[in-house]
Amino acid sequence: MKKVVAFMGSPRKNGNTVTLVNEVIRGAQDAGAETTIFNLYDMNIKPCQGCLVCRKAGHCVMQDDFQNMFKQIIDADVVVFGSPVYIWQVSAQMKLLWDRLCGLFDENHKPRYAAKSLIMVYSQGNPNAQAFQTAFQTNETMLKMFGLNVVDTILATAGTNPNTAANNKELLLKAYEAGKAI
Ligand SMILES: Cc1cc2nc3c(=O)[nH]c(=O)nc-3n(C[C@H](O)[C@H](O)[C@H](O)COP(=O)(O)O)c2cc1C
Repeated sequence: MKKVVAFMGSPRKNGNTVTLVNEVIRGAQDAGAETTIFNLYDMNIKPCQGCLVCRKAGHCVMQDDFQNMFKQIIDADVVVFGSPVYIWQVSAQMKLLWDRLCGLFDENHKPRYAAKSLIMVYSQGNPNAQAFQTAFQTNETMLKMFGLNVVDTILATAGTNPNTAANNKELLLKAYEAGKAI
């Protein structure tokens, strides 16, 4: 059975990111996967302190909710990161998580653990789907260093209204299908 772990990086509990990540997870469950979801705004994740122990040890030494998340990522076949676009990038909570993941690569910046598929979910206010593609591409390249390989990206545009994704049947289906295809 495949293991899927998803991270919600929006403070809006009924917003577009959450709606779309839930659809990905519903698809994954229908495909028989075991799923775990973390809402980053409910978790205690301290900011990276720059000690760099992770570069040698392969894990972070700070004891907080991150420890369980890291374990779940290492055990997973598929990872899902969902975030609103905040100031052209992911939310601060998602960035906190990503900084703490540096133990996923070794001292030569090569993945330390088994490669995983990654599904990215973004929601942005801007109606232009091209607006932040450079940032998304940068994220994809960076996450590959961790051994997280993007297989699908789901993007909600014009998402100032939290119900935008919920009202977009085509996008909901795309998210569901991305989960089902794992
Ligand atoms: C602090 C903050 C910064 C934002 N920055 C951007 C931005 O740079 N570009 C953009 O298109 N939308 C921006 N937005 C709008 C959100 O990306 C948009 O409302 C998104 O759909 C929220 O996703 P959610 O419904 O999952 O919370 C910003 C919103 C906030 C609160």
